[in-house]
Amino acid sequence: MTASTPPHLPKARLVAVGGGKGGVGKTFLSANLAHTLARAGYKVVAVDTDIEGPNLHTWLGVKAPRASLADFVSGRESRVENLLEETPHHGLGLLAATHGNLAAAQPSAARRAELLAALRELPCDFVFVDCGAGAHPANIDYFLVGDEGLLVLHPEPTSVENTYTFIRAAFYRRMQLAMQKHDVRECVREAMDQRNDRGIRTPLDLLRAVEEMDPEEGQRFAATMKTFRPRVVVNEVASTEDIKLGFSVRSVCRKFFGIEVDYVGYINRDRAVRDAILLRKPLTEVHPESDAAVYLQRVAGKLVEAARNAGSSA
Ligand SMILES: Nc1ncnc2c1ncn2[C@@H]1O[C@H](COP(=O)(O)OP(=O)(O)OP(=O)(O)O)[C@@H](O)[C@H]1O
Ligand SMILES: [Mg+2]
Repeated sequence: MTASTPPHLPKARLVAVGGGKGGVGKTFLSANLAHTLARAGYKVVAVDTDIEGPNLHTWLGVKAPRASLADFVSGRESRVENLLEETPHHGLGLLAATHGNLAAAQPSAARRAELLAALRELPCDFVFVDCGAGAHPANIDYFLVGDEGLLVLHPEPTSVENTYTFIRAAFYRRMQLAMQKHDVRECVREAMDQRNDRGIRTPLDLLRAVEEMDPEEGQRFAATMKTFRPRVVVNEVASTEDIKLGFSVRSVCRKFFGIEVDYVGYINRDRAVRDAILLRKPLTEVHPESDAAVYLQRVAGKLVEAARNAGSSA
């Protein structure tokens, strides 16, 4: 990343950071990627959507956020810009998710859509959306709205298993939203039940079923399928085998789901991460020379490249 100010992007690029499992490093990545890009001269906003377990503000050194996404969810504030606050880091704003009403934690789907539309209009280069853990419909919707969906996983069987569950759930949700005819949408909904009576077990089975039901919807399905491209980051790697995991997730998704997944990088397990969070500061500020910070910068570089390519092909 260069230290001189880069040219700004024409429109905010939304990067959603999700994962099938809790504690895999979604917030660590959201905070540090956001900080890396802000340090490189981009204007960045980091958004915490994990209303049930918010802590992005702490990674960014904001002790007691003044406003929160919860104010938007409850209707106390209708303008997302009014909820943004400054962080100690130049060029990096925050939309926190603290003091939520736990009795009605998640916003309605309509309110979520309003929020996401507003985020797209923010006058900045990158918006990082830190999602809650797991395949809850709210998390999936936040993940799907990103121009990029970063999927974080740990090199452990439990995390890998939940990653496939998440990819499957996100894919079906994406297809349900893309299909226009009622009976086809219904078929996608039924396919979400893994033991459905139609015998649809994989996204490829579903594609065939839709093509048979309605060729026009089948074409739309195949076209949407091509644009569904989660980007995987393996966090806390400790061996060469761990690094290879991203490649095997990619080939399993291609072979069994017919879904293309990009492997954008890995971050090693590094004690410096804990040092940084104890100081409530981004790793990329406290230990920019650490291995984890160097790998983070590599992932950040790929996000910039993708944003520039998208801008030039728009
Ligand atoms: N690369 C790393 N090396 C060492 N420790 C790490 C690394 N990444 C994350 N951690 C540790 O893992 C813990 C969980 O990280 P984080 O809070 O980012 O996970 P999460 O996926 O956001 O969790 P949740 O699902 O609860 O939101 C952190 O406390 C952090 O110290
Ligand atoms: Mg988190």
